[in-house]
Amino acid sequence: MSEEHPPICDYEGSDYQTSFWDQGGRAYEDQVEAVALHRLLPPSGELLLELGAGAGRNTSRYRGFKRVVLLDYSLTQLQQAQERLGKSGRYIYVAGDVYSMPFVDALFDAATMIRVLHHLAEASRVLAQIRRVLKQQSTFILEFASKQNLKAILRYFLRQQDWSPFTPEQVEFAPLNFDFHPKTVRAWLSEAGFEINRQLTVSHFRIGLLKRLIPTKILVALDSIAQFTGNWWQLTPSVFVKSKTVGQDIILSYAKAGAFFRCPSCENDEFAENPEALICVSCGSTWPIVDGIYDFRGK
Ligand SMILES: C[S@@+](CC[C@H](N)C(=O)[O-])C[C@H]1O[C@@H](n2cnc3c(N)ncnc32)[C@H](O)[C@@H]1O
Repeated sequence: MSEEHPPICDYEGSDYQTSFWDQGGRAYEDQVEAVALHRLLPPSGELLLELGAGAGRNTSRYRGFKRVVLLDYSLTQLQQAQERLGKSGRYIYVAGDVYSMPFVDALFDAATMIRVLHHLAEASRVLAQIRRVLKQQSTFILEFASKQNLKAILRYFLRQQDWSPFTPEQVEFAPLNFDFHPKTVRAWLSEAGFEINRQLTVSHFRIGLLKRLIPTKILVALDSIAQFTGNWWQLTPSVFVKSKTVGQDIILSYAKAGAFFRCPSCENDEFAENPEALICVSCGSTWPIVDGIYDFRGK
């Protein structure tokens, strides 16, 4: 890429799935996300791109799609996903960077990005990339961490927090961890060529005491109802936005019929393939295939 590359929040070697989800007391958050996804996903489709798929926590929820591409910068996260989902042709595992995706233009008919935007220092750049790889009238489901949540508002008024939850700029509350203002995210989506269809607010009851006192299934049921207010106001820590691509496909390069990958170094879409690697016929970059995972990182 010609522009300077923003830093990447690298999950390589992380036990995120086990420590944060499986043993982290987050059954409530996981289940309310499943409800939101179920409500927003198209019932069927050909090829869905899951951006920042991690260990594949959400992937089996995309059951209406014939094939799913799991893209993540961390090879070890993808290896965990592969252990969970298997090596069938339905799942294509790709190690790569959401800032410079190794796919040809207008390839996918849907995409999701859950719990990833909050690691992106230049989120609007990534939204433009996502528009590039989606076809016209495709669905994009984006989850983001909202700075305008009730806890942040309360802390601000009690002077326990110096940043305002109401201003449009993102806040970096820990290195490479950002909360965004919902209005700003909506403006970025629109600039990138998306039209917003629906918003769901998620995790209304993400409070330790409530989670300890109230059975998870009751909290999930209450959250499922409260999610419907998402088009009117957004005061939760997590917001899901469903949008559609508008305008013409953004074809920057005319890929050959059947082309799928695009070289992140030179943007060519023709490769010589052997069982261990894809080799770009234009610039000669070698992109390894590690145990069925295409690795497009680090050039
Ligand atoms: C918080 S995890 C979320 C994983 C999954 N979406 C979930 O909800 O369980 C964030 C994921 O984003 C990936 N990620 C962060 N920056 C990335 C980038 N620039 N390109 C690709 N993946 C990235 C990380 O490797 C990590 O797996």
